[in-house]
Amino acid sequence: MDTSLAQKPHELLAATLADGMAAVNELIRTRMASEHAPRIPEVTAHLVEAGGKRLRPMLTLAAAQMCGYQGEHAVRLAATVEFIHTATLLHDDVVDESAQRRGRPTANLLWDNKSSVLVGDYLFSRSFQLMVETGSLRVLDILANASATIAEGEVLQMTAATDLKTDESVYLQVVRGKTAALFSAATEVGGVIAGAPEEQVKALFDYGDALGIAFQIADDLLDYQGDSKATGKNVGDDFRERKLTLPVIKAVAQATDEERAFWTRTIEKGRQTDGDLEHALELMAKYGTLDATRDDANGWANKAKQSLQALPDHPIRQMLHDLADYVVARLN
Ligand code: IPE
Ligand code: IPE
Ligand code: MG
Ligand code: MG
Repeated sequence: MDTSLAQKPHELLAATLADGMAAVNELIRTRMASEHAPRIPEVTAHLVEAGGKRLRPMLTLAAAQMCGYQGEHAVRLAATVEFIHTATLLHDDVVDESAQRRGRPTANLLWDNKSSVLVGDYLFSRSFQLMVETGSLRVLDILANASATIAEGEVLQMTAATDLKTDESVYLQVVRGKTAALFSAATEVGGVIAGAPEEQVKALFDYGDALGIAFQIADDLLDYQGDSKATGKNVGDDFRERKLTLPVIKAVAQATDEERAFWTRTIEKGRQTDGDLEHALELMAKYGTLDATRDDANGWANKAKQSLQALPDHPIRQMLHDLADYVVARLN
């Protein structure tokens, strides 16, 4: 295991967990196949071979290892978590009508919506099979709840996203559901499978929850500030999809009547023309909402770091600490 060349926290984590992650990737490869429906491996290979950061499975392995676990179930749980993530991405890109994912055209674009929905369902089902193999009802409970909460978050977002009345508390509920629920489940099941004391399991949940929220806020900021080469997604997608994310919610809250009319036309009514994205960015700059959003992301990253205090002194704990900073720092 050579960790000397790794710089970024997630790379250091990946190097530290290299053996476990190789096993996770192997398990993903074998379980994503299907003998009976060739469309399944076509679609899954397209998405899985594009990589992805594998953050969530790393969190599961990291949590288990930090709590002293040496068994085989952590690898199954890590693969379960990545399958749930991949399934939600397939569905999410249909719902969002997105064209780019992991630097590649989305499956809905290359094949069609039907393939994405059905292959997503297949991956969800495969994730259930994998988690059952651990024989832990508690783990099943956590991951089943997380799956339901993710779907709830996506549905809430669907109805709230184009409604200018959506405020920061609804946004937080959406983000906690669609994104943080899987992060917190990923860390929590790592502790549970390791038989860690309840206080540590709770700390792992809190870490994942706050990290997931920081991560999604950062992702929403990158949608306006990011470099599409680095993120593998298009800049301005959220605006074009009429999605009220934190930078816009903060600008709407301070809008003059004229500005409010702009947001009503572009977000609520969806009547967008050339130059609207640029004007939206000007309004966000006027009220400093991108900076304020970054401050919020930093606040959640700090909360994540504080949660780690209840966990055993371990090199991985430091990496998780740095990871919390990194998910926000990738914006700077
Ligand atoms: C994308 O998650 C979905 C969000 C919650 C924003 P990631 O950015 O972790 O996706 P991959 O797996 O690395 O592609
Ligand atoms: C992704 O949310 C969250 C889930 C996968 C459930 P977004 O729609 O905000 O993320 P991207 O920008 O497509 O990755
Ligand atoms: Mg999306
Ligand atoms: Mg979405």
